[in-house]
Amino acid sequence: MARATPGIAKRTRQVAFSALACLPLAACNPEQSALHPAGSDAADLANLFWFMTIGGALVWCILMGTAIYAVLGKKRPRSERFADRFVFVGGVIFPTTGLAALLIFGLALLPDWAEGDAPHLRVHVVAEQFWWRLGYEDVDGTTIASANEVHLPANATIEFVLTSTDVIHSFWIPALGGKMDAIPGRSNLLRLTPTKAGVYRGVCAEFCGPSHALMAFPVVVHAPDDFTTWLAAQRQPADASGAEAFRAAGCGACHVVRGVSEGGSVGPDLTHFASRHSIGAGTLKLTAANLSDWLVAPDHIKPGVRMPSFATLPDSERQDIVDFLLELK
Ligand code: CUA
Repeated sequence: MARATPGIAKRTRQVAFSALACLPLAACNPEQSALHPAGSDAADLANLFWFMTIGGALVWCILMGTAIYAVLGKKRPRSERFADRFVFVGGVIFPTTGLAALLIFGLALLPDWAEGDAPHLRVHVVAEQFWWRLGYEDVDGTTIASANEVHLPANATIEFVLTSTDVIHSFWIPALGGKMDAIPGRSNLLRLTPTKAGVYRGVCAEFCGPSHALMAFPVVVHAPDDFTTWLAAQRQPADASGAEAFRAAGCGACHVVRGVSEGGSVGPDLTHFASRHSIGAGTLKLTAANLSDWLVAPDHIKPGVRMPSFATLPDSERQDIVDFLLELK
């Protein structure tokens, strides 16, 4: 039989060791960690995780202890009565009570929506390849359009109404709670209650095409008063000058900027674009340089994106568009 050369074996050991050493790091980014809960549902899920993990580890230790005792322990004959009892306790009572305890703990965490009050805020989410169309339901029943950055008030029940226009996506904010699919032709509801103000990261959790991994979104949880202020600002039309280059390049055919251009809505609403943290649904930090790069080669930065390249525009016109967009606070 062929044997691995010492070099390959050593390399394999190194890779395996590095992979194991990196495993705990996967849970270290608190912005996007289900184990650093910032919402009541995420806290329930984290508790369930630890209960199941510790429960499973205890069962494993008991089993291994018993197996080691069976192999290494002193060999002596046992009575038939002892053997029957041992099998009954170890094979029937122990797994039944252990699994029942884990099941009851899990079932108790299922959300009871029948008793739930009306949500404080409803946010309509339409998943698109590869970005998020958002609509905040206002007090008068209208919706305030936005995209790619979710803002929420702390300590309020939020109801997300999720759907999709193309393929199945999945909306997930690990720090706030579980995920929910966004499916074409139907509306799924997800309720979350953020408890800690801060900036978190949401992701698409269902493979949806070449830029699935570039379909993220910052989530800003505000103190309730700050959220009211933010929503009031979003309600306003754009306050920016110098839209000529934006109009001339035809950007308005796909993007709404309320008060400036309201024709097309294929792409994200840009009315308050400059108030967001990122470009391209969490892909790049919002800076003038990144925005210019994005206009030149969006498909290079985000494969499969439907936005065309504006590389043929003269630099000065592209700069005018960048300047205009960065004014859209
Ligand atoms: Cu959208 Cu994955």
